[in-house]
Amino acid sequence: MAKPLHRHEDSFLTLAETAAERRFDMPYRKTFAFDGETLSAQHAALAARLHPTGMIDIGVEGWLLPADALKLYEMAYLCPGDILELGAYRGLSATVMNRACNEAGRHCTIISIDLDPVSVEASRAQLAAEPGGDRAMFFMDDGASATRNLAGIKRQFGFAFIDHSHRYEHVHDACLILHRVVAVGGFALFHDFNDPRNSREDVPDYGVYQGAMDGLRTDRWAFWGIYGCTGLFRRIGPC
Ligand SMILES: C[S@@+](CC[C@H](N)C(=O)[O-])C[C@H]1O[C@@H](n2cnc3c(N)ncnc32)[C@H](O)[C@@H]1O
Repeated sequence: MAKPLHRHEDSFLTLAETAAERRFDMPYRKTFAFDGETLSAQHAALAARLHPTGMIDIGVEGWLLPADALKLYEMAYLCPGDILELGAYRGLSATVMNRACNEAGRHCTIISIDLDPVSVEASRAQLAAEPGGDRAMFFMDDGASATRNLAGIKRQFGFAFIDHSHRYEHVHDACLILHRVVAVGGFALFHDFNDPRNSREDVPDYGVYQGAMDGLRTDRWAFWGIYGCTGLFRRIGPC
């Protein structure tokens, strides 16, 4: 019998609470039940080498905090099914997920969407240099539009990492269709959900928290925890 999952409702923050810098105060905590604090030495090593900014340093440009990367690795390692990513940039998060899938011995596919052709090419090149990187496929498209197309062909994923545009309308738009592609029981992890910029009136390009909270219906999604700047939600029904 599957062991029960850990849900961290106590980590919920209101938008007003995310206005204070708390990204470094929200630790990685495991969702799945496994022995120890991390899955492996490779998992733990994600947090071992950091840039002066506090972001992880695995030799690929990007902005993942240690807690973000540890959660991403865990979900890619243990969520059954294929993986959807919105926002590839230089392939950092796809590299983290690909390494987790390799270590787990999983034969899944990572489909990653990015609007920017330079990001798509750079991410393709990055993953081509990684063992098992051919499980990752990068497509140039708008995140919400691609998700709608995937829903149209009934494509299903066990895990989605949402890290494309930070704008309210783009996140909201993706959230309105996400339930059609994430299987019931699966998870969606939103990067920059816990970020003070979301509530700043002088930063109109940031509305990840509000886009997710307004776009994810509570009869379809349950809040599951905040780790670093990420917010985790579980797909609960109906279809
Ligand atoms: C923060 S970066 C992604 C970082 C990446 N997930 C990582 O951790 O390495 C955001 C990316 O989203 C892309 N983007 C912006 N708006 C988008 C949209 N509407 N649809 C798809 N991609 C978008 C940008 O081109 C950029 O490469």
